[in-house]
Amino acid sequence: MKGANRIGSDLSEQIKEVTKDNHVRAENTQLMLNYQKGQITLPQYKILLCSLYEIYRALESELDRNSSHPAVEPIYFPQELARLEPLERDLEYFFGPQWRKQVIVPAATHKYAERLREIGKSNPNLLVAHAYTRYLGDLSGGQVLGKITQKTLGLNSNEGVAFFSFPGVTSPHRFKQLYRSRMNSIELSEEEHRKVLDEAVRAFEFNIEVFDDLQKMLSITEASGGSGNQNGQTTPLTAISGSPVIQFTLGLGVVLATVAMGVYAAF
Ligand code: HEM
Repeated sequence: MKGANRIGSDLSEQIKEVTKDNHVRAENTQLMLNYQKGQITLPQYKILLCSLYEIYRALESELDRNSSHPAVEPIYFPQELARLEPLERDLEYFFGPQWRKQVIVPAATHKYAERLREIGKSNPNLLVAHAYTRYLGDLSGGQVLGKITQKTLGLNSNEGVAFFSFPGVTSPHRFKQLYRSRMNSIELSEEEHRKVLDEAVRAFEFNIEVFDDLQKMLSITEASGGSGNQNGQTTPLTAISGSPVIQFTLGLGVVLATVAMGVYAAF
């Protein structure tokens, strides 16, 4: 049965409803609260970009690979939405040409990316839940976060904030309406529909875990004085370039190494 045929049960309405509480929790993670208060620092922003890069690398490679799948094709908008390339530009802006060697992510980010790769292979229907969570979020609260980032860090629109900018989307409001109607056009059985809703809740939880892990990393590095130098350079803990490589940097101290082992438990 097609979800859109049931009154009040459009996928777009239900997905918003079932993730309402998770959205509130995501907004209220320490990282997001600090962000909203304009308390984001350059090292914090850079470390967030690293995780977003790893997440979108997985999400967009799975969307690309499944672009003609019936549950992906209607919501496949690479021209309008793709974030990987803007993230690469932002990372290059902050870290320079060798940025790939400096990308650091916590265990929760790897877990999230792993889930995206897994469902891309085993159940591409579920990709819609993740695409919805990230892209509609980026086009909603994300737009506010972009302005806060620019203002707080004193950046120009062409300096390291490409992630927040959607040149292919003239009106985020209208685009979100189009996206929702495309979501509602996806043919899903009752069971598939329910699984997509469950996956959306999981998608929010993955994001919350990433924010919490990032906050832990930041607290640890700040406490040990290793969060950044005068240029806002973060100290590499785990670098990703192809396969994950654990790269503890000397000088962060035993305490950091011990806690970081917990943070990176996914490896
Ligand atoms: C500081 C944090 C956040 C703020 C202030 C915020 C704010 C908002 C606002 C105001 C909307 C409604 C926009 C509208 O109705 O047009 C919205 C929608 C949305 N947000 Fe957030 N948000 C935040 C964090 C997040 C996070 C972390 C995620 C997920 C990773 C997320 C995912 C979404 C999604 C998917 C929607 C679309 C809901 C729908 O219309 O179905 N948001 N957000």
